[in-house]
This record gives sequence, C-alpha cells and structure tokens, in this order.
Amino acid sequence: MEARLAVLASGEGTNLQALLDDPEVGARVALVVSDRPGARALERARRAGVRAELLDPAAFPDREAHERALLELLAREGITHVALAGYMRVLGPTVVDAYRGRMLNIHPSLLPSFPGAHAVRDALAWGVKVTGVTVHLVDEEVDHGPIVLQEAVPVLEGDDEASLLARLHEVEHRLYPAAVRALLEGRLEVRGRWVRILEAARG
Ligand code: GRF
Repeated sequence: MEARLAVLASGEGTNLQALLDDPEVGARVALVVSDRPGARALERARRAGVRAELLDPAAFPDREAHERALLELLAREGITHVALAGYMRVLGPTVVDAYRGRMLNIHPSLLPSFPGAHAVRDALAWGVKVTGVTVHLVDEEVDHGPIVLQEAVPVLEGDDEASLLARLHEVEHRLYPAAVRALLEGRLEVRGRWVRILEAARG
C-alpha cells in the first residue's frame, strides 16, 4: 500500500516545511490538519499544493467529537501515517490506537527531560548545559513514546529562548525528515521502548 502521510500542526509549521521540502517525504504528504484558525502551517500546505484542513475545536461540542472528526478525515483521505509537528493538543486513545507505531512526534528537548509545551524555556530555567531534539513514536502519554532519534544541542552562555530555539530548529529540520522517511519506508524496528532504524535499501 502506498504511504499517505498527514501532518498535524498548530502553529508556524517550520517542521512541516522541512517535511514538504524533503523530496521523498514531501511527495507523500497528502494532508495537513490544524486546530488553529490562521495557523501558518495551513498556508504552507496550500502553497505546496497539499490539502489543508482546519478542525477548530470551537466548532465541536466536546473533545471526543473533535477527535472523531479528525479520525474520520484521516480515514477518508486514506492516511496511513501521521507526523505531529507542533500540534498543541493531546491526542486521545482512539486516535493513538488507530495509528500506533505509525505516528511520530518531534519535541525540542532530550526526553525524558522537559516534556510539555515549554521545553525550551524550562531547559533554560533549569540551567542545563545541553539540551536537544527528540523524535519519538506517539503513545497515550505526552512526549513519552519510544525514541526514534535524538540529537544534543549545547546551551550557550547568553542564550535566550529565541536563540536556543533557532539552533534547535536547525536540528529538528534535519532530524524529522530522516525519521519520517524511515517510518514511511517501514524501516523502524520497535521492541518495547527500543527502536532501531534499519538502513535504507540502496537503489
Ligand atoms: C517544534 O519546536 C517542535 O519540536 C514542537 O513544536 C515546535 C513546532 O514548531 N513540538 P514549528 O511549528 O514546526 O515551527
């Protein structure tokens, strides 16, 4: 079956852009979904000629109805894999279960340190000398699933949130396409919390 990727994003969408710009991954992005009206990610999708859908939670009676609509949309579009790219909502068990082993998230810290929505700020506040980027499979817990790729980024003297985030982004934009490529090509071997990335076939 041909892989069809959906990217879920709430904000700027620079990671979405990195996925769109990767020739192999970009060709597989079939749908972009956002929960925020006006999210820059939607604009990036449209500009790339990719279907962009807004599912505004305010238009649904409750969280379950919003997630049902999301699942229906993914099914309707024949989505086989999902990449969360700055999607600021916690996904419930039904969505997680439907895409178990086929859904990735990217997070701007070396998990399990600094999970949550303010990872960069929290790392700076803690005074760590090294932080980084984590790509992991999504499970029921926030920023928790098996780790696929990680890379360290030093915290420099005088760093503020913006300067550190800029360096984290550089790493994110390289790591995420690589991890998503491996996922789409079926090259992730998962044993419990351990993930091995199998080498790509030479062609
Ligand atoms: C990234 O730092 C990602 O790690 C986190 O949210 C941010 C999204 O940035 N999950 P962008 O919208 O891709 O620019």
